Amino acid sequence: MQILIKNAEIITMNEQTDIVYGDLLIEDDRIAQISKCIEGVLPDKIIDATGKTIIPGFIQSHIHLCQTLFRGQGDDLELLDWLSKRIWPLEAAHDEESIYYSAMLGIGELIQSGTTSIIDMETVRHTDFAFRAIEESGIRALAGKVMMDQGDNVPVNLLEKTNESIQESVDLLEKWNNYDNGRIQYAFSPRFVISCTEDLLTEVRDLSNQYQVMVHTHASENLKEIEIVENERGMRNVVYLDHLGLASPRLILAHCIWLDDNEKRIIREKGVKVSHCPGSNLKLASGIAETPDMHDKGICLSLGADGAPCNNNLDMFNEMRLTALIQKPIHGPTAMDAKKVFRMATMGGAAAMGLEKEIGSLEVGKKADVVILDLNNFHTYPSTDVDPISRIVYSATRGDVETTIINGKVVMENRIIKTIDKSV
Ligand code: GUN
Ligand code: FE
Repeated sequence: MQILIKNAEIITMNEQTDIVYGDLLIEDDRIAQISKCIEGVLPDKIIDATGKTIIPGFIQSHIHLCQTLFRGQGDDLELLDWLSKRIWPLEAAHDEESIYYSAMLGIGELIQSGTTSIIDMETVRHTDFAFRAIEESGIRALAGKVMMDQGDNVPVNLLEKTNESIQESVDLLEKWNNYDNGRIQYAFSPRFVISCTEDLLTEVRDLSNQYQVMVHTHASENLKEIEIVENERGMRNVVYLDHLGLASPRLILAHCIWLDDNEKRIIREKGVKVSHCPGSNLKLASGIAETPDMHDKGICLSLGADGAPCNNNLDMFNEMRLTALIQKPIHGPTAMDAKKVFRMATMGGAAAMGLEKEIGSLEVGKKADVVILDLNNFHTYPSTDVDPISRIVYSATRGDVETTIINGKVVMENRIIKTIDKSV
């Protein structure tokens, strides 16, 4: 199967951030060629992208598809109250069907706004049904069931026995990890330190080493959370995770707002991946993460919308813009400039997934996760000296996403989401 996209402005996000004007050829699930004019092929499909811009699909490194249905819940609460009063009771009430539809709704929004890959943390029960939605929709995902074997104010059916949590995770891993030629992968997902016994976390460490899979958790999001961790475990979040042997390039930490210098050093030295979630951090009054400092220290940064209750629509354009804007009054106009932010949304996310050789940029040999934008919807004076990345970060919206291709399959075309034909 070949798809030829003609006459586009191609933002490659390769190491030099080259912008190429011309054609891109997809062969099966990979990018086969990028050049000024591709001739001598008989593609199955030609997309005329004259005047359009193509970009690598966005990669969101922290979301909760199970929370898409909880939009509008507890908007004026802080993290721990929001979890115990709103999110946990709602997660406890989920059943197989509601998990599936929550995931499908979220994935639809993601695809419509140009996100092609996600790192997804589910809830305790029924995660198999979120994986089914991921499978059917065609989105690329690293996902896992949440693990919670301790905690106060947790509804009974979210509290698991340690061995039950491990066994269910391993069963899901064995079913879904590397599914569909690696499009779907499994990540162990202990919720956060407060929800997990030390036995659970050390078991997760051993299993992640044994199966060579990622571990995805929340850390250093809220000051009360940090205080509880320090009181219970005698250490700050990242020091504790490192003490247990979990700090490694296979660890993804969502939020990381209140890190001290020692925690930043551990993250940098151990190659831990950070997912910045600015919309969520503002809405839950959690704080403003120090992304300019983390960036300068060489920490691997990526972006996530967190759950829909945190930002309303899982839209990466919002998260990119917020990442840039919230730093400007504190650190000046270029602290997190458009190029840094766009890199977080693409190659940063690829690194968080451990897939930097496969996705995150438009380069020959990489997986074909491609988004076509029509930026002519802007009502602006035509100008040739505006950097296209800056135009996207500061002015584009989800309505400018025209076509989304994942793993070489067109999952949305001219804003119409297509059903994936599983026989193809
Ligand atoms: N920390 C533990 N669980 C959660 C969650 O569901 N969302 C956010 N934002 N933080 C958390
Ligand atoms: Fe979260």
